[in-house]
Amino acid sequence: MWSVSIAILFHTLVILLVAGHQLMYLRDKVSLVQTAINEGESVLVTLASQAGLDDLLAKPGNVTLFGPTDDAFFELPMEIRYALENDNLTRLAFLQYHIVNQTIHRSQLKNEATFNTLSGQPIRINFYHNNTVATASGRPIDLGRVDLNATNGVLNVLDGVMLPPIGSMADGCRQSSQLKTLTTLLIESAVIKDVGTLGPLTLFGPSDEAFAKLPKGAIDGLLKNTTALQELMYYHVVLNTYFRAGMETGSLKTLSGKYLNLTVSLDGVKVNGANVISVDETVSNGVIHMLDTVLTPP
Ligand SMILES: *[C@@H]1O[C@H](CO)[C@@H](O)[C@H](O)[C@H]1NC(C)=O
Ligand SMILES: *[C@@H]1O[C@H](CO)[C@@H](O)[C@H](O)[C@H]1NC(C)=O
Ligand SMILES: *[C@@H]1O[C@H](CO)[C@@H](O)[C@H](O)[C@H]1NC(C)=O
Ligand SMILES: *[C@@H]1O[C@H](CO)[C@@H](O)[C@H](O)[C@H]1NC(C)=O
Ligand SMILES: *[C@@H]1O[C@H](CO)[C@@H](O)[C@H](O)[C@H]1NC(C)=O
Ligand SMILES: *[C@@H]1O[C@H](CO)[C@@H](O)[C@H](O)[C@H]1NC(C)=O
Ligand SMILES: *[C@@H]1O[C@H](CO)[C@@H](O)[C@H](O)[C@H]1NC(C)=O
Repeated sequence: MWSVSIAILFHTLVILLVAGHQLMYLRDKVSLVQTAINEGESVLVTLASQAGLDDLLAKPGNVTLFGPTDDAFFELPMEIRYALENDNLTRLAFLQYHIVNQTIHRSQLKNEATFNTLSGQPIRINFYHNNTVATASGRPIDLGRVDLNATNGVLNVLDGVMLPPIGSMADGCRQSSQLKTLTTLLIESAVIKDVGTLGPLTLFGPSDEAFAKLPKGAIDGLLKNTTALQELMYYHVVLNTYFRAGMETGSLKTLSGKYLNLTVSLDGVKVNGANVISVDETVSNGVIHMLDTVLTPP
């Protein structure tokens, strides 16, 4: 009698153990490399391996990978894809910019939060449209696939490849071949003294062609009148970071205190009727978009 009971008990225990083990097996976490592959990110994994970063993503540790999907890589401009495939330094810098040496969970992803990456440059997180849209350095985060726990860290899936910032907003202006006049007016004349560090900011920067459309003598006049220059420049800068993915029709308050009107349609984005001709130049303290016309403060 006793032996039968013990046999049944033993049998039950074995079944429980097997079931428990299977449950654990189902929930078993895998490495970041395998997690990325499971989420359709084999291009990323291949590039990481070529850059010698596969070891970091596979060995024990606490890292966060902002992983673009394969589609995101295929949508990159040809010249960037070419560089990623052929230029070791570019590839390494791009991949390092997608890795943070720290575990970042969902609760830490907040509007304007920044995280330093292995490349040394920060990723900026933004939430828009009542938190239904989130971006990492302007690229959409797949909010259905964040905080995916791996054995050695966390994967957040991105629908775009982040471009490492070229520096601060001041650097971004200086290095652009189409923002030379703006650079003179905004930075060299120190209108916004801290444009390198202040922020986060969104700059709607008129191109050189936009300034060339101003009446003759207008720019010299501005250079002679600090008040007017400041008023004009402040009207092109908005506090907080508005990447293209977060833009919607409405008004934004500028540093001058006056508002500008943003219109988002299938034709693109307009600011008070001026066309936004290029978007999302990521800089360490915000973002630069380019305008084809100089705005007139109301
Ligand atoms: C680039 O990386 C590949 C793969 O890691 C390596 O075989 C090759 O020698 C590297 N080329 C240069 C120029 O360093
Ligand atoms: C990862 O972080 C956990 C918790 O902070 C810590 O216990 C563990 O040692 C870390 N692992 C590595 C490989 O650094
Ligand atoms: C990541 O952080 C750990 C612990 O803080 C450190 O030992 C390791 O060298 C770091 N790895 C990289 C690639 O920075
Ligand atoms: C914003 O999101 C919250 C929570 O999801 C919701 O309750 C609220 O109605 C939303 N507001 C608008 C204006 O859509
Ligand atoms: C990953 O782990 C964190 C912290 O333990 C948890 O809050 C989160 O829900 C987990 N993510 C998923 C997708 O289960
Ligand atoms: C400088 O510009 C301000 C603002 O536009 C204007 O009120 C002022 O008259 C100008 N000063 C001169 C000397 O033109
Ligand atoms: C912005 O739009 C509002 C409402 O249509 C209008 O009253 C205002 O004049 C516009 N502002 C500018 C600077 O165009």
